[in-house]
Amino acid sequence: MRKVITGEQVAQIYNRDPFALPIWRAPIYETPAAIIALVQLVRLLAWLARLIARHPVAATVLAVLVLAWLNVGWLGLVLLAAWAVVVLAAWRFFWPSSFTRWITGPAWGRWRGWWCYRRRWAGVMAISGVAPWHQGRVVLPMLGKVTATKYTDRVAVRLVSGQSPADLAKCAENLAHGFGALLCRVRTARSGRVVLEFVRRDALAAIVPALPIPAHPDLRALPVGKREDGLAWLVRLHGTHLLIAGATGAGKASLLWSLIRAMFPLMRSGLVRVLAADPKLMELAFGRIIFDTYGQYAADPEEIAVMLESAVADMQGRAARFAGKRRDHTPAVSEPFVVVLVDEVAFLTAYQRDRKLRERIMAALATLTTQGRAVGYSVVAALQDPRKDVLTIRNLFPDRIAMRLDEPEQTDMVLGDGARDRGAACELIATDPAIGAGVAFVRLEADPDPVRVRAGWVSDADIWDMTVQVARPALEEVPV
Ligand SMILES: Nc1ncnc2c1ncn2[C@@H]1O[C@H](COP(=O)(O)OP(=O)(O)O)[C@@H](O)[C@H]1O
Ligand SMILES: [Mg+2]
Repeated sequence: MRKVITGEQVAQIYNRDPFALPIWRAPIYETPAAIIALVQLVRLLAWLARLIARHPVAATVLAVLVLAWLNVGWLGLVLLAAWAVVVLAAWRFFWPSSFTRWITGPAWGRWRGWWCYRRRWAGVMAISGVAPWHQGRVVLPMLGKVTATKYTDRVAVRLVSGQSPADLAKCAENLAHGFGALLCRVRTARSGRVVLEFVRRDALAAIVPALPIPAHPDLRALPVGKREDGLAWLVRLHGTHLLIAGATGAGKASLLWSLIRAMFPLMRSGLVRVLAADPKLMELAFGRIIFDTYGQYAADPEEIAVMLESAVADMQGRAARFAGKRRDHTPAVSEPFVVVLVDEVAFLTAYQRDRKLRERIMAALATLTTQGRAVGYSVVAALQDPRKDVLTIRNLFPDRIAMRLDEPEQTDMVLGDGARDRGAACELIATDPAIGAGVAFVRLEADPDPVRVRAGWVSDADIWDMTVQVARPALEEVPV
């Protein structure tokens, strides 16, 4: 009977009493302790090697500390720490920007990444609805590197397979609230990855004072204000034309003045001329002496037409001189860079009653915008209503800035299709000048996502300061 019962992993305990009941138990094979120790040792070594490979800097620091302690004792550790503090302090003092880049920036990013994001990641992802179920398990998007500035956090995220950036964009508001930010924008990176941009503090809530006049302005990067991430907002004029759209009181004038301010040293040295057309006789008249000295000023539509036409003639003359010799323009005193500044351009085009005058101005503007780029002519035009029937030549302006607009559809007219869906909510910019005047959305080169910016506010006193400087060279020439 006993022989019939067969099975694995069971064995009878050996008992010498032939009448005792059999006791069945799993067999126990004792592994020798040495083998267990060996396996654990190999595991420990593998773990250590992996740890060192993953954190080479920390491992080196630790090794140095241990060596110092072994060789010199506690004094060695103290000396080493003091030396490190001195080196870091000197680095911080002499090269503050590189210190921020290599030490404080990454440290701050790691801290934010852990404190603000890692701890709450699983919960916020699941509850916002971006953690799908797959085969009975919740799958979370993967948290990557966090880069934090004073105002924004950029969080790299690897999407769950099958997810799209739009899935996250739909839940942007949940994510913003979940991580305690004001706003969350989804920036697309490589395929399968996104960058979530969390705005923690509105860098643009306070009025940005007029920026200092740069000592060596670059016409490809004129500082005119501040970007949402706290960096300088740079505007390019060389080789392009600029259209500024914004409702009444949006702060177009502050942007025009910021540009003039940024170019002021070049105007003084004769490398830049500004032709100012001011049909509303409002914005530019205050600093008229600046244009009278370093360019030209016109307010009457007839005068403006004459000024633009003579600019066209000059430009064509320059093009003829350049033809076959040069393909690009470098500003020189003999061939200055010419900025044609037109405030309220619709007054000259759509709302101008005199048809002849309107056509002359339109033709001049169209010629300047189509032919001026390569020969050092740039048109900067401001207008309130960006519709095509108001400014037919809208598309001739490669660079455009959208300030506060009245209607949501106008945003895409200025910044191009899809700009509003990507976060450029121009109609939501506050009408209160203290909060919203000068705020705009722009598309930077090589980035499809609009960026929020605010122009510096050039006050009457700032303009006055510039006009005073206009008079100065004349005074300096007077022998004392
Ligand atoms: N960048 C700015 N920052 C703060 N306030 C501004 C700024 N620009 C303009 N303002 C305020 O908003 C008002 C309207 O601005 P303005 O430039 O005249 O608007 P627009 O020319 O677009 O109609 C100004 O009187 C000024 O007080
Ligand atoms: Mg205005």
